[in-house]
Amino acid sequence: MRLDKAVALAGLTRSEARKAIAAGRVSVDGQSARDCAMQVDPARVRVDGAEPVPTGEVYVMLNKPAGVVTATEDRKLPTVLDLLPEALRRRNPGPVGRLDRDVTGLVLLTTDGQLAHRLISPRWKAEKVYHAKCEGTLAVRDVEAFAGGLALSDFTARPARLDILEAGAAQSVADVALTEGKFHQVKRMFAAVGHPLIELARLRIGCVALDPALAPGEWRALTEEEVRGLRAMCGMEERES
Ligand code: URA
Repeated sequence: MRLDKAVALAGLTRSEARKAIAAGRVSVDGQSARDCAMQVDPARVRVDGAEPVPTGEVYVMLNKPAGVVTATEDRKLPTVLDLLPEALRRRNPGPVGRLDRDVTGLVLLTTDGQLAHRLISPRWKAEKVYHAKCEGTLAVRDVEAFAGGLALSDFTARPARLDILEAGAAQSVADVALTEGKFHQVKRMFAAVGHPLIELARLRIGCVALDPALAPGEWRALTEEEVRGLRAMCGMEERES
């Protein structure tokens, strides 16, 4: 990423970042850096010798690996917050909804409480898309069952879209899109149609797709366009910057 963008990730405007670079306040790997266009790893950038601490709202995406819990603290297991650098952790961003410990993929974390609330509220119908591998052969009747709103033991799921990508004899692969996120919902829906899940990964929340450049455990800040898109779909006004 460009140096000025990496500095701006800390919550500075792009022009403040450029001024800080021109003033010699920015270093990369301990060396003074004055070329705004230089390509850098944001984790190696320091402003005034310290890791830049974001000052505005924090919006990040994370590629959650299996074995990590979607919580802000846990006595035994690593949490999604443990995967963020100290400077971001200090801002206390919260995860938007939860993925089970064994489920991988897109987790959004933000300090913007209203956006987080709206993204998980059924009222705003933010679509969550998952990639699923399940037992047995998925068929058109399963697509219809998901689309018709599956009756589970304690609630009826909203209509969901099931796109079958591979229907093998022993295993199938599909993408599934929901507009709600109740406890173990995707696992329960597949189990209800007789196809227990083998693997599940979240690919997208609303207009924000998991960045394929992020390896499991990696994160990046959302772009301004991604933040604007999420806020617009949740009926939130454009912010003054
Ligand atoms: N559905 C599940 O069953 N688990 C998740 O983690 C997310 C959706």
